[in-house]
Amino acid sequence: MKSIFLNRLGAAVVLSLGMAGVSWAAGSAVVPDTAPAHPAFSVPGMEKASAEVALKKGNAERGAVLAQQFCGICHQFKAGQESVGPDLAGIAGRKIASVTVYSYSPALVALNNQSWTDQKLSDWLTSPMHFAPGTRMSFPGLPSADQRADLIAFLHTLGHADEKASPPAQ
Ligand code: HEC
Repeated sequence: MKSIFLNRLGAAVVLSLGMAGVSWAAGSAVVPDTAPAHPAFSVPGMEKASAEVALKKGNAERGAVLAQQFCGICHQFKAGQESVGPDLAGIAGRKIASVTVYSYSPALVALNNQSWTDQKLSDWLTSPMHFAPGTRMSFPGLPSADQRADLIAFLHTLGHADEKASPPAQ
């Protein structure tokens, strides 16, 4: 008698686990495991706060040192001075891939309808290959949010595209 009870208990456990698995699979198939496009509700002030956390205020002097170290081999910081990469004068707010004399990769040209916001610069500098798959900027990326913030602060000192009516022609 005891073994029949154990058999039933065993079968019940196996069946329950099986059903839990099936339910889990069905649930996962119906509800995708991604963040919702729009939050169900928003707490006033939270969105701004999280953007500020993501993009810390950088130190432009430290950024200048980093720029010489990491970017200077391929970029000049004055308008009209193209080298391996395009010049970075007024890059903050500048339209992506907009130096007319520079020959960009199709990957970057495809983003030309957008401008370089701080968030985009940060995403780009985290991993150029991820931001624009196929880009010719062979730079692995800066994993440190502090270093990116410092660099972006420095890039702001190179002028801001919004301040000019039109970018210099050279
Ligand atoms: C090994 C060379 C190399 C290094 C190092 C490099 N870049 Fe670049 N960068 C490029 C090239 C090449 C492009 C053009 C990419 C393309 O057309 O896909 C580019 C493009 C860019 C652009 C887009 C410019 C535009 O007009 O839209 C930005 C911004 C940029 N680089 C910033 C940086 C910063 C900041 C650093 C330093 C952290 C850096 N790059 C390091 C080669 C480099």
